Amino acid sequence: MKKIDTLDKLIATVKKTDNLPTLPKVLSKISEEIDNDNFSIKNIGELMSRDVSLSARILKIVNSPFYGFPQRIYSINHAIVLLGANVLKSIVISTSVFTAMKETMAGLSEHSLFCAFAAKHIAVKLKAQKINNIDPDIMFSAGLLHDIGKIIIATAFKDDFKKIIENADKSKKSLVDIEHDILNISHDYLGYMLIKEWNLPPSIYLPIKYHHNVNLADDFKAETAILNIADFLTRALGIGFSGAAYLEKINRDALNILGIDMDFIKSVIGEIYSYKDELYIFE
Ligand SMILES: [Fe+2]
Ligand SMILES: [Fe+2]
Repeated sequence: MKKIDTLDKLIATVKKTDNLPTLPKVLSKISEEIDNDNFSIKNIGELMSRDVSLSARILKIVNSPFYGFPQRIYSINHAIVLLGANVLKSIVISTSVFTAMKETMAGLSEHSLFCAFAAKHIAVKLKAQKINNIDPDIMFSAGLLHDIGKIIIATAFKDDFKKIIENADKSKKSLVDIEHDILNISHDYLGYMLIKEWNLPPSIYLPIKYHHNVNLADDFKAETAILNIADFLTRALGIGFSGAAYLEKINRDALNILGIDMDFIKSVIGEIYSYKDELYIFE
C-alpha cells in the first residue's frame, strides 16, 4: 500500500469515502437544533423521543452513579437540561459512531467512555482544589470523542488500518508513530478535522488535535493536558482497547502544565477505578 504523500490528497480521500461516520437523520436534526443559539429543549426532546435507544442512553447516563443526581430523572427534557448542549451533542455523535466502533475495533467505545469519565473527574478535582477552572462537561465531551479519528482510518483506509493494528501489536512504538509510518497522518489530526466539521467548540476539537502532543498546543493547553492524562490512565488501567499494547510513560509535560504531581494522579486512580463498572451505559 502506498503512503499518502500529501495532506490534501488524504483529505480528498476521506471526503470521498461514502461510509464515513455520518449522523443519521434524526441525530443530525437534533444536532442542528442544538447548534441553534436559542435552541428549544421541547424541540430537542421531541426529536429525541423518536429515537428510543438514544433517549434510553441519555437517561442511563444522567441516572448513572457517575452523574450522581440525588433523584431519579425520568423525563428526557429534564435530562437535556442537566447534561447541557455540548455533552448532549457529544452523546448524539458518539451514539452513531460507537456503533461503527464496535464493528471496527472492539474495546474502543469502552476506552472512549472511560476516558470521558476520567477527564471529567480530573477537571472536577482540579476545580475543587482551585488549581484551575476547566469545564468538566467540555472534558467529558472531549474524552468521549478523542479517538474518533481511528474510526476514520478504519473506514477510509481499511487495509492500512489492519496493518497499523498488526504492527502496533508487536511494536514498541506508539500508535500515532505507526500511523505516521504507514499513512503519514494520525488519528488525532483526523479526529480534529471531523469534530470541527461537526461544529463542536475549539475547547473540544483542539485538545483532540493535540492529545498525543501536548507541547504543540497553544490554546486550551490545560484541557489538552487533562485529555492526555485521562487517555493515559485509561490505557494504564487496561480498560477497553485503544489499538496498541505499548504504554509509554506518563507525560511529565502534561503534569507540569496542570501543576500537579504523582500523588494527585495516584488519588485520581483510586477515585476513578470503579467507573469501569459503569461502561454498560453505551451497550
Ligand atoms: Fe488517541
Ligand atoms: Fe485514546
